[in-house]
Amino acid sequence: MSQVDLFQQAADILHENDRGHYTIPTKGLYPFQWNWDSCLTALGMAWLDEARAWTEIDTLFVHQWDDGMVPHIIFHEPDEGYFPGPDVWDVGRETPTTGITQPAVAGFAVKRLYERCQDRALARTRASALLPKIADWHEWFYRCRDPQQTGLVAVLHPWETGRDNSIDWDVPFEQVPTEGVGPYTRRDTQHANPEHRPTQAQYDRYIWLVQHFRALGWDNTRLHDASPFQVVDPGFNAILLRSCADLATLADELDMPALAARQRALVAQGLAAFNTLWSEQHQQYLCQDRVSGELIDSLSSGGLLAVFAGIDRTHAQKIARRIEVLGSRCSYLVPSHDPADPRFDGRRYWRGPSWLIVNYMIMDGLLEHGYEATAEKILRGSLALIRESGFAEYYDPLSGEPCGGGRFTWTAAMVLEFLQRD
Ligand code: DGY
Repeated sequence: MSQVDLFQQAADILHENDRGHYTIPTKGLYPFQWNWDSCLTALGMAWLDEARAWTEIDTLFVHQWDDGMVPHIIFHEPDEGYFPGPDVWDVGRETPTTGITQPAVAGFAVKRLYERCQDRALARTRASALLPKIADWHEWFYRCRDPQQTGLVAVLHPWETGRDNSIDWDVPFEQVPTEGVGPYTRRDTQHANPEHRPTQAQYDRYIWLVQHFRALGWDNTRLHDASPFQVVDPGFNAILLRSCADLATLADELDMPALAARQRALVAQGLAAFNTLWSEQHQQYLCQDRVSGELIDSLSSGGLLAVFAGIDRTHAQKIARRIEVLGSRCSYLVPSHDPADPRFDGRRYWRGPSWLIVNYMIMDGLLEHGYEATAEKILRGSLALIRESGFAEYYDPLSGEPCGGGRFTWTAAMVLEFLQRD
């Protein structure tokens, strides 16, 4: 398939999933606006329509909560085909949202859009309006998810990381009960192969946490300490720190010096704390269970995503080497879990499959740190997956089999990004 054909197919998917002021990730399985999907989608969209790309992120921030949190789903239109819907979350907002957040990639996306856009006046206006809102979200993270001021924030629900059923959460999930979770009907397994999706036992815990936080009135001053699941994810923190750093650079450009200084201070304290997540034994970063204080023995792509932030050269080099080792264990980088681990499952969502958005961020980090050859391997593998298996949600890293939802928006957006680089 030629590059022009690939570009056209990706553009068709973005148009198909466009709902005017936001895009859905894919029909059926995910019929609303998702937070980090939208931010990464905007990057691809900018190659087609710059104003529409800005609107994608603007729409997300219209639904920012008063305390600064930006929710993980905005339920713009009713749709019975998704569970758990607005009634389960019950956050009491006019346009319903969920009550948890997602990886804070907006700062990174807005800087990249700003740099790329041909319409300079539009870029300046839209970025200037978004900057303080993104900064408020970052403040929310450090206030509500790092109450002890460690420099690193915790997630309180696996859905916040976007890596829903990663092996990273298996041990901390043992502390999450399931009593009191009433009968419910999953809808995801009606849209996608159940063998590609999280298990019932995981869903019971996802729902228990939602019910628990709902009973606390979604009061973010209480949720952190009251949650039996508090995990410090290196991938999640790296995305946040990269966004803080990018926001600072953009704030300099847009004459907002106080905002820039504050974001730089957050980066400095975050990077200083980052080494507490390093495993010399495994040569990568690991998640930390904040409840037990232990590092979690699980070699996921969360620990590799750290390279997206400004980590030190020694660790960046070791991550690049780790990715080369993983490349020798699979056909399509970057597996979401190390195939050498017996718990690896190549088709089950975040327990093995490769995802183009993760590839994009890891590739970007490798390029920033000067590892061009490894970045190039990721680029080639990503485009090979598309050519061989279409625009899936994720792929088996051993066989390249397409998994999860089809005609997937952020996969298409990343293809537009990779093609520009190619
Ligand atoms: C889902 O419903 O599977 C989503 O990943 C939650 O964000």
